[in-house]
Amino acid sequence: MNKKVTTVINADKCNGCGLCLTVCPCQTISIKNGKAVITGKESLGCGHCEAICPQGAIKVEENQVDFSFSQAANTDSYVPPGKYDLSSLICLMRSRRSCRNYKEKLIEPTLLNDLVMIGITAPSGTNSQCWTFSLLPDRQKVEKLGDSIALYFKNLNKIANNSLLRIINKLFSKGQLENYHKKHYKSVQHSLDLWYQKGEDKLFHGATAVILVGSKPEASCPHDDALLATQNILLGAHAMGLGSCLIGFAVHALNNDPKIKKEFNIPATEKIYSVIALGYPAEKYIRASGRRTPLTRTL
Ligand SMILES: Cc1cc2nc3c(=O)[nH]c(=O)nc-3n(C[C@H](O)[C@H](O)[C@H](O)COP(=O)(O)O)c2cc1C
Ligand code: SF4
Ligand code: SF4
Repeated sequence: MNKKVTTVINADKCNGCGLCLTVCPCQTISIKNGKAVITGKESLGCGHCEAICPQGAIKVEENQVDFSFSQAANTDSYVPPGKYDLSSLICLMRSRRSCRNYKEKLIEPTLLNDLVMIGITAPSGTNSQCWTFSLLPDRQKVEKLGDSIALYFKNLNKIANNSLLRIINKLFSKGQLENYHKKHYKSVQHSLDLWYQKGEDKLFHGATAVILVGSKPEASCPHDDALLATQNILLGAHAMGLGSCLIGFAVHALNNDPKIKKEFNIPATEKIYSVIALGYPAEKYIRASGRRTPLTRTL
């Protein structure tokens, strides 16, 4: 970590209680002559000090994003541990489903922005917040991405269907082509046929919007950060009345065919970690579904 300090303390307001010191992960703050002062050279910019100060004496200047939402009010209030209704939280988490049937109705642009804001409330390694959110806000753009991804898989299927190439691939690398051929060739070919012959969208399931969640390369934990933001978005989408589905096939294509990123003006250095299909759901569940028993051990 090498982050400059943007924490500013108003000495007139500070009463020297020292609470900010107890939550600062970087020892950035000290008490001198009964007042908090910045003595450290680094800060995570986490905002713990600002959030705990009873006097409202601290401002972390780098944290400028406006957390206002078109669909939610007063998001600045803080819920202490144990004070949120756990049943509601579990209910929300269990009610999110991968949606594979969407209405034609477009998602309002403000809602997509709300989802990004919901995404960035996630934790990130060293608070680097290097995630990126590329929005495809309408069906036309989603179909354009669908076309590029279909072309990628058309080429991949052609290569994978060549037994000689599969043998060569096995000899010189880990045999991914054989594996792909076994696991995905047939279903991908079926989806491609439907896309090219009938315009049926088995990739994005007819979603009217897509969010690509990526990360700039300088993040300390890019994959983790992007996926944590992603899960927030999935839950937020459900609470906002939207359906969502992660599209792993699109992630694979975006990271393996540089032409697709170029076509959508995404820098080649940026890796995409999740592709979220979104839209108003054209499916209605009446109960939560189950899960297999997880492997759990007490050590
Ligand atoms: C990393 C990842 C990739 C996924 N890729 C796809 C995909 O390409 N197409 C799709 O229809 N669903 C995809 N899914 C959705 C899963 O099939 C789904 O999460 C799983 O069946 C559990 O159902 P639920 O999300 O409704 O709880 C993906 C999920 C994850 C976590
Ligand atoms: S928490 Fe606020 S009032 Fe207390 S020492 Fe820190 S800046 Fe001063
Ligand atoms: S923002 Fe975080 S790391 Fe920086 S001074 Fe405040 S508590 Fe410490």
